Amino acid sequence: KRKIIMDCDPGHDDAIAIILAAARQELEILGITTVSGNAEIEKTTMNALKICDLVSLTDVIVSKGASGPLVRVRETAPGIHGDTGLDGPELAEPSRSWSGEHGADTMIRLIKESEEPVTVLPTGPLTNVALALAKAPEIKDHIEEIVLMGGGTFGNWTPTAEFNIWADPEAAKKVFDSCIPTTVMGLDITHQAMASQEVIDQVNQIDNKVAKIVGELLEFFAETNKEMFDLDGGPVHDVLTVAYCVAPELFKMKEVNIVVETKGEFTAGTTLVDLHGVTGRERNAKFGLELDVEGFWNLMFESLKKY
Ligand code: BDR
Ligand code: CA
Repeated sequence: KRKIIMDCDPGHDDAIAIILAAARQELEILGITTVSGNAEIEKTTMNALKICDLVSLTDVIVSKGASGPLVRVRETAPGIHGDTGLDGPELAEPSRSWSGEHGADTMIRLIKESEEPVTVLPTGPLTNVALALAKAPEIKDHIEEIVLMGGGTFGNWTPTAEFNIWADPEAAKKVFDSCIPTTVMGLDITHQAMASQEVIDQVNQIDNKVAKIVGELLEFFAETNKEMFDLDGGPVHDVLTVAYCVAPELFKMKEVNIVVETKGEFTAGTTLVDLHGVTGRERNAKFGLELDVEGFWNLMFESLKKY
């Protein structure tokens, strides 16, 4: 089993990523760490705990992490995820509280305690990962891979920047400069995983409580993505990190160099993805180009049917 830590800011697509991961035998979730991003840290942590209850992940540690970016002012995304960060379905109050250990410390501890190398799946701003690397750089050698959602060759929060990278560019820079094997699900590939009405209908045909909640999450997410970005459905960005760990054959990737802009007046948080090797800089990431869309949704449906 591949050992993973999910570092997230649920968030509709983060929540569905957890739901997919929990359904898969191929993965062992060592822990969930939360970060401020789609909503304030108390809310994203609460949401993670609620989703854990929904999919019976009650033994998995949930630790509250950074309440804001390393150096910038905190920004959230209520226009996409609602005020709670997870508007739409009615979810029961969590049966437990978070661990009491800071998310970055949980990440460090779990990586050190694990006998096998660990894969980290960041699906929010990269603050916790940067903090963990600053505090305990020796964990680098024990991280198998970082599979993150962020960046791309175009933006969704500014004309050139994607939300997760834009929300904490300094943290993202630290991760991309870390020399840890890094796999990037950017907007180029996540926009191929569009939860259209047709997809939602198929989810709604699956007769169990978890699928019902996923259907409601996708409906809310589709509405806000329509309002804000005029998209026909919500791109389930974060879910691709989990799908990649389970079924990498569904992804066409390219090794590239990626640097993060931290200084630009208009371009802070932009990932410069050197698709054609024009900079001559060393390759430091695998970048998602193309998704087997049908294969991806089949993986989702089949996984939801397990509940
Ligand atoms: C990313 O931003 C958040 O709104 C989503 O959860 C995803 O991680 C997409 O830009
Ligand atoms: Ca997210």
